[in-house]
Amino acid sequence: MASANGIKNKVGRKEKITERFGYAAFRDKVLRRRVPKTSWYQGDGSTLTILLVIQVVTGITMTLYYTNAADHAYDSVRYITDQLAMGRLVRGIHYWTAGIMVVMLFSHVFRHLLLGGYKVPRQGTWTIGVFQFFLVLTMSFTGYVLRWDERAVYAARVVLNMFHKVPVIGDELVLLIQGGPQLGSLTLTRFFSVHVWVVPVLLLSLVAIHLYLVVLHGVTSRAEREQPVATAEEHKAMYRKAALSEEQGEWFQPHTMFMTGLVAFAVFSIAFILALTIGPGELYPEGNLVGSSVPREEWWFWWYSALIAQLPPAVAPVFYVAFPVLLFVAMLLLPLLDRGPNRGARRRPFWTVFVLVCVIGLLWLTDMRTRSSWTGWPDPDPPSVPHGVVLSEKSAQGRLLFARYGCNSCHAVSGEGRRVGPDLADLERRLSLAELHGFILAPPEKTAMPAYRGRITETDLERIVEFVLVAQTFPRE
Ligand code: HEC
Repeated sequence: MASANGIKNKVGRKEKITERFGYAAFRDKVLRRRVPKTSWYQGDGSTLTILLVIQVVTGITMTLYYTNAADHAYDSVRYITDQLAMGRLVRGIHYWTAGIMVVMLFSHVFRHLLLGGYKVPRQGTWTIGVFQFFLVLTMSFTGYVLRWDERAVYAARVVLNMFHKVPVIGDELVLLIQGGPQLGSLTLTRFFSVHVWVVPVLLLSLVAIHLYLVVLHGVTSRAEREQPVATAEEHKAMYRKAALSEEQGEWFQPHTMFMTGLVAFAVFSIAFILALTIGPGELYPEGNLVGSSVPREEWWFWWYSALIAQLPPAVAPVFYVAFPVLLFVAMLLLPLLDRGPNRGARRRPFWTVFVLVCVIGLLWLTDMRTRSSWTGWPDPDPPSVPHGVVLSEKSAQGRLLFARYGCNSCHAVSGEGRRVGPDLADLERRLSLAELHGFILAPPEKTAMPAYRGRITETDLERIVEFVLVAQTFPRE
């Protein structure tokens, strides 16, 4: 009797321990749940989640060695990459999972545009997702500033310029991000804090809510795609029917978990192989706040750089700030604007064409950027004029246009500015008016300078040429 009681007690206690952590409810409500059958491409969500976990783990590992002071940051990244055991691999995995995450994020959004994944009852899931989208982009940007090489400094400048353009509070925003009137050590500290604390805390909380909502409302099932669904009740009935049915449904564990896990594993393997073979992102020379910087972005932003460069110079400086804001608002409004009952790519021809145009556009712009070392990021500050030099009215206008047409995103004048092209005060041979005219309209092939033919008016060109003629006589560095 006594021993039988003992056994009973033991079993009872065992059940209680897992119960104190709510395992049975989790098992019954999440794991042992019937769901509509999943296709492999529905594994993109799990893939994003797992890539994020890997980012967190590799990121925390690197903070054990990374120093966020401007005079040591670069050396600590070099140390992690070149000397630390497995440091190169860890940094490589962090780098490649970051880039692949941006790609997967775009495809996740496109997939839901095709399916109508933001429709009733999933508007909340989508809205949380929009915030996650921008937070991941913020991570993918602030991360590469932490290297504090010349490209990082350049990237920080581009973004500070963007914030500077925000109406009314632009100056305050720049002060807040920069940590003072000048780009420096405090700026790096702020980017670090945003990258390792602020955004991850927000992002992980939103991921938790997003996943909860995915479990609650389920993924877009085949049945939903085949017939219109107008209300949440209709959706619930249809979803339940598919999940419970023998041929349209499956068990979340193990079927769905296995399928989505396999996709996540495959994608991670790609990141791992790239980390092993190509290694982490290239380090440029240490960031130098006074002199030159490298106008180049990470590959997941190439499309944006090319897009900005293709826009007319009068539009580009406004567009490159306004675009992310407009995109954010448009994505938030989408579930309110498109409330039709149709889901699935076949019933949504407009969105099929839209996504196709976006994907082709992104690939085309990215490809365009790889063939050219130019960059389109406008820099609003025209080159300064040496002491004692007085410009004619025409060349003074030319100096402003020099910045407006992005010449200064590549050319320094008298030692000040960027160094993609030669310093114009430092040319080997002074060019004549006619030579300058011809060169700017159509630089020789293979020159890393865009042809301005068709993109500049004759009067603007004359003024710029006038300025360059004078700039050639500025003191050499
Ligand atoms: C994306 C970068 C980029 C932009 C933007 C750019 N250039 Fe250039 N530019 C270059 C490069 C690189 C060269 C060097 C070409 C070579 O190898 O000879 C060059 C060469 C030149 C030269 C001839 C220098 C020489 O040695 O003969 C002039 C003049 C010039 N650029 C003026 C301009 C003006 C004016 C603008 C704006 C309207 C401009 N560039 C915009 C990259 C750029």
